Amino acid sequence: MVARSRTSARGLKSMKILFVTSEFADFAKAGGLADVSAALPRALRRQGVDVRILMPAYQNVLDKLRVLSVVGSLPGQSAIEPCLIGETRTADGIPVYLILAPSLYQRSGTPYSTPEGYDWGDNDLRFARLGLAAAEIAKGVDGIGWKPDIVHVHDWAAALAPAYLAWSGSKVPSILTIHNLAHQGIFPADRLDALAIPHDAFRTDGVEFHNYISFMKAGLTYAHHVTTVSATYADEITGEVLGSGLQGLMSGLASEGRLTGIVNGLDDDWDPATDPHLPKNFDADDPSGKAENKAFVGLSLCLAPSEGPLFGIVSRLVHQKGLDLVADIAGELVERGGQIAILGTGDPNVERMLLDLSRRYRGAIGLVAGFSDTMAHRVVAASDFFLMPSRFEPCGLTQMQAQRYGALPIAHSTGGLADTIDDGETGFLFHEFSRQAFLDSCRRAFEVYAAPDELTSMRSTAMRRRFDWEGPARDYIRLYSEVAGVDVPKPPSRTEPSIPPRLALAGESERRTAAR
Ligand code: ADP
Ligand code: GLC
Repeated sequence: MVARSRTSARGLKSMKILFVTSEFADFAKAGGLADVSAALPRALRRQGVDVRILMPAYQNVLDKLRVLSVVGSLPGQSAIEPCLIGETRTADGIPVYLILAPSLYQRSGTPYSTPEGYDWGDNDLRFARLGLAAAEIAKGVDGIGWKPDIVHVHDWAAALAPAYLAWSGSKVPSILTIHNLAHQGIFPADRLDALAIPHDAFRTDGVEFHNYISFMKAGLTYAHHVTTVSATYADEITGEVLGSGLQGLMSGLASEGRLTGIVNGLDDDWDPATDPHLPKNFDADDPSGKAENKAFVGLSLCLAPSEGPLFGIVSRLVHQKGLDLVADIAGELVERGGQIAILGTGDPNVERMLLDLSRRYRGAIGLVAGFSDTMAHRVVAASDFFLMPSRFEPCGLTQMQAQRYGALPIAHSTGGLADTIDDGETGFLFHEFSRQAFLDSCRRAFEVYAAPDELTSMRSTAMRRRFDWEGPARDYIRLYSEVAGVDVPKPPSRTEPSIPPRLALAGESERRTAAR
């Protein structure tokens, strides 16, 4: 890393970053990527960096806009169709470039899937368009009048941008941030021509992954630097268990100093003292207002009046989140006088499992199947404890939200959960992903709940813990200044261990996994 003293204030001010993402909380959200895409650019701008967002103009994005000017047009390539580039600004002035390609993006559904939850069949073209637009804007487009110094892309959906830059001979450096390596954007090899991928890039040290095209691997191969969203996850993905078949490549990047873990922060909007969604505000000096929130959520979810602890869950309902462990121990939590409030949507099987649970323990377990920001804030504010038995968690934001709102997280010690929860001080961590280990942590929570002084002390420590974005933003700025002076790396030449794609693609039915 470049020492801070070598980075002049003038240098930082002039830094121009194109932030390429498939989600941006102001306009389109499926999970934590949207939150990060909204908060990190704002933190960078506060520190003087000229960050601009590039994303697809989904139908629900267009629905939210007041003003949109068309500022450029981009040609098509192979089966990737031409598009227009629109420019808008958020209410607080962040420039956002939108890719206007109605046949690709103007549909109802999530950024990745149909309203019924199936991946769009043309996700390869939809997100190749995103990557190619980023590369073209980086090279300069008439009418836009702005060129980035660095292209910073996020997750597989944007990960072809570094590759298109490299194949076009551009020297504009790029950074890929992995938010979840389990989702790679895997497509059949016969899509090479359609996606304008040169045939000689289809090799193990290029875009090929077990005879398929991998968008994520393309990004990992051609980006100058790779980051991920916690130090522990950066380490975990160099190993077989969480490397998703790319552990060889990840270890190589780590040993070349091209893989960095930078933990996410938490947006200042998450403040129980001012939160407009809450029936009653509270703060670390006087958290007694939590009781009113607890009563309100209890009523909303038809929970019986109770003196026992409330365990909250706000989550995408997917395999990654380990909610089967909650089903395994729910009976014991209820028997001990606990209640569970669940807000989430996602995989119909997980949803059904939780619905069955709420029927079996009527009055003690309540489920809201769906998602709303207001309800998310309320459940977090109401909870005494917050359940996160994730199988893996690159960073996780909800455990930070929970701590700030005095809900002590009970979480598997993995990825960002291990990095942002202090066991026994601000929450409870269990190490082995098992029913017993999770139950043991919940028993510790019951003991703390029964000892009011201890509960007050842990709650106060958790609520006062800082998770601001300023530190992470400084780390990204240091990385930007370092990368801006580096030549395009040669693709690494190493062979991946032979892992069948089925095994490697953990959670393939989840969000951000492409149909193959
Ligand atoms: P992930 O990105 O893996 O879902 P994070 O903890 O990083 O996990 O981020 C979750 C963010 O998304 C939180 O702000 C949470 O309130 C929100 N969220 C949780 N479930 C959903 C959902 N089903 N749809 C949209 N947003 C959700
Ligand atoms: C991904 C990860 C989550 C992380 C989020 C934002 O969705 O699953 O752990 O917090 O991205 O980086």
